[in-house]
Amino acid sequence: MDARKTDITLRIEKEHEALKQMMGAILEEMQRPVSGEAFDTWKLEFVWRLRDFRNQLLKHFELEEHGGFTEDMLRIKPENHSRLKELEAQHQEIINTLDRIVEALKALSCRDCDQFPEIRHQITTLLKQLEAHEAAERELIQSTYLQDFGAAD
Ligand SMILES: [Fe+2]
Repeated sequence: MDARKTDITLRIEKEHEALKQMMGAILEEMQRPVSGEAFDTWKLEFVWRLRDFRNQLLKHFELEEHGGFTEDMLRIKPENHSRLKELEAQHQEIINTLDRIVEALKALSCRDCDQFPEIRHQITTLLKQLEAHEAAERELIQSTYLQDFGAAD
């Protein structure tokens, strides 16, 4: 069935893998113990890491929204329309949540401060949401190509 997938679908799946690696690095960086004097450096680097991640995510979402993926999914299976709209709305929610996290992190004044567990919780939740979102996209791709494959017989 893979042979039937378009370049764009394959590229999206590849990017999902790259994003997964970035997510892993974020979680690692978040758990790493940080001494008092290293806090400022850690915070700045962590903010930058999240910014890079946001940038990658935005580009990835733009690829999905404007790179021909939506058109492909609709051409093969027009009933995908509402599901695609839902997924698109999630893109914006994910970016908004990430922006709130970055702001909260910038306001953090020490690693052991009371606000940190909440930020950590928000990051973990966001990454889980993103994983579920991508799994839903994968499912959409699979079911759409399955239908295409069936229709071609
Ligand atoms: Fe995606």
